[in-house]
Amino acid sequence: MFTKGNTSLTRKTKLLPCASSVLLVAAACAQTESSAIPGDQEVHERADALLKQMTLDEKIGQLSQLFVFKEPEKVEDAVAKGQVGSLLFVTDPAVINRLQHVAVERSRLHIPLIFGFDVIHGFRTIFPVPLAMAASWDPSVATKAQTIAAEEASSVGIDWAFAPMLDIARDPRWGRIVEGAGEDPYLGSAMAAAQVRGFQGEAIGSPGHVLACMKHFAGYGAAEGGRDYDASYISETQLRNIYLRPFHAAVEAGVGSAMSAYMDVNDVPATGNRWLLQDVLRDEWKFKGFVVSDADAVKSLKTHGYAKDLSEAAVRALNAGVDMEMALDFTAYARNLNAALNSGKVTLQQIEESDRRILEAKIRLGLFAHPYVDEARAKEMLNTPEHRTVARLAAERTAVLLRNEGNLLPLKNGEYKKIAVIGPVADSQMDTIGSWTFQENLPETVSMFSGLRTRFGGAAQLNYEPGVQISRKFPSFFDEWFPLKPEPVWAPEQARAQFKKALSLAKSSDLTVLVLGEAQNMSGEAASRNSLEFPGQQQQLLEEVTAIGKPVVLVLLNGRPLNITWASQHVPAILEAWYPGTQGGNAVANLLAGDVVPGGKLPISWPRNVGQIPINYSHNTTQSPENQGKRYWDEESAPLYPFGFGLSYATFTFSDLKLSQERIKAGQTVEVTADVENTGSVAADEVAQLYIHQQSGSTSRPVRELKGFERIRLAPHAKKTVHFSLGTDELTYWSSATKSWVEEPAMFDVWLGANSQASLHSAFEVVE
Ligand code: NOJ
Repeated sequence: MFTKGNTSLTRKTKLLPCASSVLLVAAACAQTESSAIPGDQEVHERADALLKQMTLDEKIGQLSQLFVFKEPEKVEDAVAKGQVGSLLFVTDPAVINRLQHVAVERSRLHIPLIFGFDVIHGFRTIFPVPLAMAASWDPSVATKAQTIAAEEASSVGIDWAFAPMLDIARDPRWGRIVEGAGEDPYLGSAMAAAQVRGFQGEAIGSPGHVLACMKHFAGYGAAEGGRDYDASYISETQLRNIYLRPFHAAVEAGVGSAMSAYMDVNDVPATGNRWLLQDVLRDEWKFKGFVVSDADAVKSLKTHGYAKDLSEAAVRALNAGVDMEMALDFTAYARNLNAALNSGKVTLQQIEESDRRILEAKIRLGLFAHPYVDEARAKEMLNTPEHRTVARLAAERTAVLLRNEGNLLPLKNGEYKKIAVIGPVADSQMDTIGSWTFQENLPETVSMFSGLRTRFGGAAQLNYEPGVQISRKFPSFFDEWFPLKPEPVWAPEQARAQFKKALSLAKSSDLTVLVLGEAQNMSGEAASRNSLEFPGQQQQLLEEVTAIGKPVVLVLLNGRPLNITWASQHVPAILEAWYPGTQGGNAVANLLAGDVVPGGKLPISWPRNVGQIPINYSHNTTQSPENQGKRYWDEESAPLYPFGFGLSYATFTFSDLKLSQERIKAGQTVEVTADVENTGSVAADEVAQLYIHQQSGSTSRPVRELKGFERIRLAPHAKKTVHFSLGTDELTYWSSATKSWVEEPAMFDVWLGANSQASLHSAFEVVE
């Protein structure tokens, strides 16, 4: 494998000309292709050696990161002058090499650039979106996917992925819920650590890997009203017990960088928030990596009404702990830090500390020794059939079966001679991969229709009709930067005709697979909604196709729970496929055919309608739950589908829940075991989920909290004992009463089962 940091001949011919460098710079070049990843001490010394050589302008230059969408030649001058430390959005290996040559050969100290990019759920091979990945309840799938994403991205010269996105989100109106692991801190933490391992490998600088960047630090997912970029108000209790936990897990897993979030959290912008960036991140968690701002977030401190001008914005961001400014153009840091230093508002030591962290990352990544990329090798890496196989397996593991009345699924081979595939996203490659993809191989993407035709086409005739068109009311800024192929909008007459065509196709078919949901630009950044209804006329299409009376399978492509309450009562089979990625159509076809049995589980409680939001399972209860009318008199207060829910073509029973002790002292551990049996007739996966509830304490505690899970595979009638431990890590929480982490004497309920409403119960006590 040829990547940054490995030993191929081609690489040797493209090494930095260390011999021509000044002595101290040569220290930074010392990492040769034969050396292992340098140790902390060595990295520190090399960074020191460089810092001693750098002018103030060069030091400030390292703290600037610029977008390059087009015209890369425009930044060359700045790169040659050492005014830029990093570039983002360059993905052509030839351009990356060209710009890197400028940095390495023309800048005074030959400091390489670090190239960043949004590698969120794949680079060329696109995997299911992160929310879907969480639905696998299998962190190893996330590790594999991000390993491949890192391999493909690093093959073109990208060193740094702006992922994983770790924002807990409990409001599906927020468009970016699709980028994270859903509502739960425990599941979110497992997915966080798994992704860091995938991106970075064993250690920062591992061949074929990239630097990970946990984002958006922190609290972005709680934006008021689910409106993107809006302020969040989160108590310290919620921050520590919920929103910060996945970030801490990523730090523990060795994440090398962090991105500060855009919005205010409790009235202090995250990008100017010293409590978050210094007190928590560095002092408490001992994070050693560097912090980059989100795009133009330093400049935005003025928009927030937090800084009076860009100079103050630069000062407040640096003082808070933002090392690098990501910006569309030279703005706050580049133009103001020099004067801020002269007027004593920041110190040289602060600037150097930020430089040191950035330089250390560049050294660890091996950029000084191997700044260039093998362009020919990149081409090979971007066409790897094995990667597509992993993408298909991932998509198969992430789908969630929500309903299967009368065992309509799996579809019996040959039973349906004519299958209609209907829906606006059913044959759309773009809407199969979802948002945050820029370098994907679109023609290679398998749409739902295409996958179904391949799988069922031998025994049945398949036909497709879109039925309706869907589009955003207000355009996304992404559409402007990365224009989608414009689809001619149907005139009203044509729209009516298309709708009828779809209905008559359904009438003349034996079965309809309705593929409904959201277009890819309806989820993601700047893609929040005020409703969870199907966009456009899809609900009407759903109701009219179902009314025909032939069997209907509803496949959902979406980045958030939608209002499927009607469907949950009238449509026999519902499969949540999310945005399943490059191999989505093949994966869904395999699932519908029963070649693969669905085993995914919801990483978010599924609301009945928008008015129930937020409806996370892990809430406090301050009045007895008996009288439903105490909550809403016009709607149930339980979600449509609970957190952790998902059906299978098999059935499972949980039994024999045992705890090793009835009573422990704080600091000790209770071992929990239970038997899981496949009572169905096919081999299938089940996710054993462990929930606890602390019955009393210095503060009220949530009714349930996930504290363990394991996805297991069982042959028909096979039984397995699952095992979990409950110790200090699981029983400790941040108490607003004591303002500290506590493990308190109390009774604890334990439930083990297939979702957050599991009923198999036991209890134990923690005593002083
Ligand atoms: C803004 C987004 O909030 C962030 O997630 C992304 O990494 C940066 N832009 C860079 O594209």
